[in-house]
Amino acid sequence: MHNVRKVTEDIYWIGVNDEGLELFEEFLPIPEGVAYNSYLLKDEKTVLFDTADIRVVDEFLASLKYALDGRTLDYLVVQHMEPDHSCCIKHILEVYPDVTVIGNEKTFLLMRQFGVEIENESIKEVVEGDSMTFGKHTIAWAFAPMVHWPEVMVSFDVTNGVLFSADAFGSFGKFGKELFTDEVDYDKDWIEQARRYFTNIVGKYGPHVQSILTKAGTLPIKMFLPLHGLVWRENLGYILDKYNKWSTYEPEENGVLIVYASMYGNTEKAVEVFENRLREKGVTNIATYNISNTDTSYLISETFRLSHVVIASPTYNLNIFPLLHQYLMRLKTLNLQNRTFGIIENGSWAPKAGDILHEFLDKELKEMTILDDRVEIVSALNENNEA
Ligand code: FEO
Repeated sequence: MHNVRKVTEDIYWIGVNDEGLELFEEFLPIPEGVAYNSYLLKDEKTVLFDTADIRVVDEFLASLKYALDGRTLDYLVVQHMEPDHSCCIKHILEVYPDVTVIGNEKTFLLMRQFGVEIENESIKEVVEGDSMTFGKHTIAWAFAPMVHWPEVMVSFDVTNGVLFSADAFGSFGKFGKELFTDEVDYDKDWIEQARRYFTNIVGKYGPHVQSILTKAGTLPIKMFLPLHGLVWRENLGYILDKYNKWSTYEPEENGVLIVYASMYGNTEKAVEVFENRLREKGVTNIATYNISNTDTSYLISETFRLSHVVIASPTYNLNIFPLLHQYLMRLKTLNLQNRTFGIIENGSWAPKAGDILHEFLDKELKEMTILDDRVEIVSALNENNEA
């Protein structure tokens, strides 16, 4: 059974689900799996857009052969050199030795760094704005550096308005029977995976994403064909609005994220009371996570989503709870900005967590508001300190 589906009259999706991979990029849990998307344009010439991870090479090559249906491959467009999309380039060169590989200067630099031996006569180097005609279809290239690597370019099919969008507008999650986002309840079942994918992987590069969104705004785009996740052919404004918010570090929703650590349940109890008080005051959009059983990538995603964050930490070795360090450092490296933070600290004999949290949020992160009214607990919540 080949994973080949028609996207448009002449474009085929060749995707492979990877359900066995536990950690994407070796650190992001993907319990819902992931798919590597590749697309084949069958025109007077045949053109493949990107390949797949080495883990699925056999299935990928078999699907490509099936989609080609007896034809050879004339061109391979390499939009992104991250190995989950480029590892099969050397196999393509072996199976289709006459293929011409299209990329830019940085593409071929990275390709050779990754050990792909390719002759100069097999490559076609393009620059921003270049286009080529393959029959009915003319493809134009726009560079999208740092969305998510420096060599990234996207390919616009001028003939039918399809944008092969590389890492943009993709998500974690494997394919079932559905190919298009309008075949699923995206807002209910997929957006969390799209958000966690974007914020953790590309979140740092907000200004670069803004610049490709500006370029995209000038094109009559009808479809997004990303390298992971479902294909967009309707309601493009929905995902463009999300990308606009994520890349300008604007929260999607007014609401409160509570991230807490609790060694023996006392800080947790305080958080429960705190959450109840918020609800009594009419705040209903609250998401609460125990950092000890939540992977940081989910917390990052939720911090991009919500406007307010409350961190509750015991004092541990005169510092914050160890697992909170990773969360805070990731917020810093992802350049997250413009949130309002509240602090709950606990400490039995030398409470320090509050001061350390305050200093980190103030000095290491950008444009954060930190509420002056800190909640301080000494060992456990009781009727004297509950107020
Ligand atoms: Fe799935 Fe940046 O690549």
